[in-house]
Amino acid sequence: MTEPVTCVLREMRWWDIDPVLELERDLFPDDAWSRGMFWSELAHARGPEATRKYVVAEAGERIVGYAGVASSGEQADIQTIAVTRDQWGTGLGGRLLTELLRAATAFECAEVMLECRVDNVRAQKLYERFGFEAIGFRRGYYQPGNVDALVMRLTDPSSVQGTQING
Ligand SMILES: CC(C)(COP(=O)(O)OP(=O)(O)OC[C@H]1O[C@@H](n2cnc3c(N)ncnc32)[C@H](O)[C@@H]1OP(=O)(O)O)[C@@H](O)C(=O)NCCC(=O)NCCS
Repeated sequence: MTEPVTCVLREMRWWDIDPVLELERDLFPDDAWSRGMFWSELAHARGPEATRKYVVAEAGERIVGYAGVASSGEQADIQTIAVTRDQWGTGLGGRLLTELLRAATAFECAEVMLECRVDNVRAQKLYERFGFEAIGFRRGYYQPGNVDALVMRLTDPSSVQGTQING
């Protein structure tokens, strides 16, 4: 990790997709999202019927993190969350997650679900800090590596926002 940078969180827009894709391929080499997947998600992120919220963390002109959540009725799903390697451990993951939980609350979701690779201890620690609990596994969820997913759930996202923002 290098020094934490000062960054602002803002809504992800279509012109962010290229730099985000570059980070995506670095951070999720086995199962990176395609350009089309980001376009499709952002298409549902605006207007009164929006069911998605995507944010980027920007330091100057550089994107150093991004995250997104989808709502479906009472349930929200963390779709993605990522931070550039040089900013890991700075609390930026916590800031992004706080923003997603705020969005889940605005969508009036009672619970938030996510899947996480069983070997991704760093991410699991972050989620546990926010009160997510492991509730099961999805065998072979991540292909082609055939890695299991840990399924985690947070009930009442409105109760944790604001308290965890600085990690
Ligand atoms: C997961 C990720 C978003 C976390 O971002 P971050 O900015 O490092 O998050 P934070 O600094 O807020 O918290 C990281 C946690 O990992 C812990 N950690 C630090 N170094 C660690 C290490 N070597 N091994 C395990 N955990 C570690 C931190 O102590 C902290 O846990 P704590 O809250 O119990 O103190 C980031 O590591 C990342 O982008 N990883 C690659 C993409 C990814 O895996 N996304 C999640 C998909 S489910």
